[in-house]
Amino acid sequence: MKIDGTAYRSVWVDAGDRWSVHILDQTRLPWSLEVLRLTSRDEAAHAIKSMQTRGAPLIGAVAAYGLCLALRADASTDAMERDAALLNATRPTAVNLRWALDRMLTRLRNTPASDRVAVAYAEAALIADEDAAQNEAIGGHGLPLIEAAVRPGRPVNVLTHCNAGWLATVDWGTALSPIYTAHNAGIDLHVWVDETRPRNQGAALTAWELGKHGVPHTVVADNAGGHFMQHGMVDLVIVGADRVSRTGDAANKIGTYLKALAAHDNSVPFWVAMPSSTIDWTLADGVADIPIEERSASEVTDMTGRLPDGSIATMRIVAADSPAANPAFDVTPARLVTGLITERGRCSASAEGLLGLYPERRAGSSI
Ligand code: MRU
Repeated sequence: MKIDGTAYRSVWVDAGDRWSVHILDQTRLPWSLEVLRLTSRDEAAHAIKSMQTRGAPLIGAVAAYGLCLALRADASTDAMERDAALLNATRPTAVNLRWALDRMLTRLRNTPASDRVAVAYAEAALIADEDAAQNEAIGGHGLPLIEAAVRPGRPVNVLTHCNAGWLATVDWGTALSPIYTAHNAGIDLHVWVDETRPRNQGAALTAWELGKHGVPHTVVADNAGGHFMQHGMVDLVIVGADRVSRTGDAANKIGTYLKALAAHDNSVPFWVAMPSSTIDWTLADGVADIPIEERSASEVTDMTGRLPDGSIATMRIVAADSPAANPAFDVTPARLVTGLITERGRCSASAEGLLGLYPERRAGSSI
């Protein structure tokens, strides 16, 4: 996608040295656009853990490149297994991290150590290219949902939570891909952007990237969505996901479940968009079994913003002696999800729905 006319991806290999890895530092947005150069396993792990890079598909791609950087230092089998485990431990909820590292290891375990670096960079590039292509396809499959909501004389109002745009993927985004596709097709639409406390990915990232692409949007407090739905001001909700169980339960940024409840109560369609790398085929009960990341209480007690003089400051907004809890994700049960939008098409949020799109996952399948 473009920033001020220049096309960017969220991760790329340096065109000059052809080994170091660049990401956009998402902790600096929306105030400044800063590119970070990653040169080691530890820099990649830190970038994922500290959320300089984030979003389920993107952390998978960055972890894959992190393993490339690790292999440059030591391509032995023991080091490779250790470094993959270290990268996998950086964040627990998004399954794309494990998916990408498993794919890298499957490719590399049977590769001689002397060839591993070259093979790893090729595989990481494939992961990145496939993610961009899959997310673009999600846009095409989500477009009819937006087209169906078009009414004369008013925009289609879509509500989204967190950042599931191109910043959270290699390109295009998941939930925002149908929105970009519809906007590019000339459909009059408007996006309600949940601010997404505590880290404000909606306010800081989604609003920024929609603005850069020229998509009309309004940032709202997380608590406002139910009110807008009650008053007919939301035609559909589209969110992303960090892990979807094989039965269609969807983990996404904390607060997503509340939006699904409000959508259900108001008969507003609630769609989850994700590439197949986000499906955890090993899990049947997402609510019980998807691990939920617990992050620092300081993300709740403190807020960061720009002061009138342009400087960036962090300040405490909670009484000094009050503790805070910070679960970073929640799980929306499949019964509250209208449907899933994947790179292969749309389906119901159910085992049968997913298996209809991914028949090779049926027990005993030889596809
Ligand atoms: O903690 P984050 O910012 O990595 O969480 C990201 C989300 O919850 C996104 O909505 C999710 O990854 C959607 S996929 C693009």
